[in-house]
Amino acid sequence: MSKSTYTKGNQQKGLTPITSDWMHKIMKEPELVQALFATYGSPMNILNPNSFAKNCTVFKEVFQQHQVKAQLFYARKANKAKAFVKRALLENIGVDTASERELEQSLALGGDGDHLVLTSAIKTEKQIRMALQHQVPIIIDNHDECILINNLAQELDCQARVGFRLSGFSVDGEKLYSRFGFDIDEVEDYLMTQVGEDKKLSRFNVEGLHFHLDGYSTHQRSEALLQCIELIKRLKNKGFSFRFIDMGGGILINYLESKAEWLDFDARLKESLKGETSSVTFNNNGLGYWLEDGIIKGERKTYPYYNEINSGEFLTKILEYSDKDENTIASLLRNQNLEIRIEPGRSLVNQSGITMAKVVHRKQDAKGQWLVGLEMNMSQMMSSSADFMLDPYVMYADLNEDKADAVEVYFTGAYCLERDVLLKRKISLPKLPEINDVVVFVNTAGYMMHFFETQAHLFELATNLVYNEKSDSIRLSDFKKDAES
Ligand SMILES: Cc1ncc(COP(=O)(O)O)c(C=O)c1O
Repeated sequence: MSKSTYTKGNQQKGLTPITSDWMHKIMKEPELVQALFATYGSPMNILNPNSFAKNCTVFKEVFQQHQVKAQLFYARKANKAKAFVKRALLENIGVDTASERELEQSLALGGDGDHLVLTSAIKTEKQIRMALQHQVPIIIDNHDECILINNLAQELDCQARVGFRLSGFSVDGEKLYSRFGFDIDEVEDYLMTQVGEDKKLSRFNVEGLHFHLDGYSTHQRSEALLQCIELIKRLKNKGFSFRFIDMGGGILINYLESKAEWLDFDARLKESLKGETSSVTFNNNGLGYWLEDGIIKGERKTYPYYNEINSGEFLTKILEYSDKDENTIASLLRNQNLEIRIEPGRSLVNQSGITMAKVVHRKQDAKGQWLVGLEMNMSQMMSSSADFMLDPYVMYADLNEDKADAVEVYFTGAYCLERDVLLKRKISLPKLPEINDVVVFVNTAGYMMHFFETQAHLFELATNLVYNEKSDSIRLSDFKKDAES
């Protein structure tokens, strides 16, 4: 009997992703999915703004519980779709923009000076003018930016709403390095000597302090907040009044169902590098580990996909951290009447996107490994870390498991590079996929689908479809191109 069905890869010894009902609802509809491919080509990204909205609510509730003034700014660098920007503004949160086009588009979508912030690493004159004209706060990184912003504000005869990005916080006796921002040890002197009506930077309304830390430590973020609060207190006595501290993004999410699977994979990866078990990754890629004189060296260079403290709890841990006098950060913020801002990217688009691609060919390489070629390329689902460690799903047009032979595969992409292998982990499947079967990578909205997207070989970019989920049924008309949604 022929049966249309979908299944997760690696039913045993996998890394089972956390998924949402809407993803399964789509995967249960092979005809609808094939119709979408017929219209939009492969690969396709499907985006669900409702999931985004739920993530907004989680953070809002944490802030409410702690009775702190707060605002979220969605870091739209995590995903280029307009749909999330629109939804952010509908949810009455802000948008963190980091380029001229991100700013321009967010303004066109209805963002204003109270709902946008400009945090670009490189700020061109055009960007700054646009921000000044719309009174969008600019987060300043360096002295040259200060001069340019002040000159342009003078020319436009306006005040510049600015925040100062800081780095160099001391945590546990070590100074945290960053290439971004002003050194916290020097900024007080800088502000005192450079900013003010009678000083070089006369056009500045300094509204806040900002930082964004590399990595995912709540402890470092709390310590950085404490140091910002102390600095603000000192500067208050010297005539500066700050409204906010923006602690950037980096709020961890949890991608995986099982801690045991996560630990088990790590152990098996090391065993396989030692040759104690068969390889679990393409060409025995160590994902950051390597074997030297029989010993595993290095560390796994992947995102920490399994996290018990994530999302709202991650934020709670930061807000409930106490200084040496047992004052929590939340209470210090309240006492100083400061607004806390965050700029989550990945954590706001958690569970809000999937990437689907069609199988084009299957082949066995000289080692006998099965390679399943997909109509997509590595830039269309690429992690900044060593691998995207979530088991994919396969939608089979026909899966009769009684007759099927289980197989282990790697998914390969369309670039001319040996390394265009979409997942480094080996994926076991109940049956070799057929041509036109569909592979689904879940939870890809955060950085995976767009951040590294390129058009080498003149490949078209993937179509981004916004899924407007309605009741139980699902129709083609529930999917609209992002540009038209
Ligand atoms: C200044 C700034 N804010 C926010 C973010 C978003 O970080 P995440 O997506 O980890 O929340 C980034 C990421 O690089 C950033 O550089």
